[in-house]
Amino acid sequence: MKFFIDTANVEDIKKANEMGVICGVTTNPSLIAKEGRVFEEVIAEIASIVDGAISGEVKATTVDAEGMIAEGREIAKIHPNMVVKIPMTVEGLKACKVLSSEGIKTNVTLVFNSNQALLAARAGATYVSPFLGRLDDINVRGVDLISEIAEIFAVSGIETEIIAASVRNPIHVTDCALAGADIATVPYKVIEQMTKHPLTDAGIEKFQADYRAVFGE
Ligand code: E4P
Repeated sequence: MKFFIDTANVEDIKKANEMGVICGVTTNPSLIAKEGRVFEEVIAEIASIVDGAISGEVKATTVDAEGMIAEGREIAKIHPNMVVKIPMTVEGLKACKVLSSEGIKTNVTLVFNSNQALLAARAGATYVSPFLGRLDDINVRGVDLISEIAEIFAVSGIETEIIAASVRNPIHVTDCALAGADIATVPYKVIEQMTKHPLTDAGIEKFQADYRAVFGE
């Protein structure tokens, strides 16, 4: 399983990129709004930092296929690594089909059941984004959806990649990897949490103490 970072915050993106662990970035309208910056500017800056797939979503207020197609074409022009993120609706599927047929990469988002994922794949989606955490929030096991989609895609020979989204903690990451997600898109805080283990810290302290006792600083 590969990692994308799920944020529009360029400082967090730089930190994760320097760690060498991410190969892409996902954003959504809420994450862009949180930064309070112009969409095209922040996306272009992100694309200049990370050499990998950058998902930029069509405007939250654009609900018709024609509008999404027009916006998707503009998003694709920002950088060759751009992926157009489209909501999982009938209009979104129509837009996905047209953009995919033009060679534009797409990420169908807000996927909450495996039939939605299957439809998105058949409409030519490069990626589908099932939202794990938001299902857990309503007492439905999100990881079950990831494994179900992975099984269906394997059985049907579908090449659309599964991005496990709405990842909220390190256990989610392990669960997604075991369930067969191709990618997990993870907030910086969770990447940082994944690096930690108390025995690692204790081990470093002991190595330092033993070294200093004999060799000094
Ligand atoms: C995915 O592409 C979404 O941007 C994101 O993972 C949603 O996460 P949330 O449910 O924590 O808002």
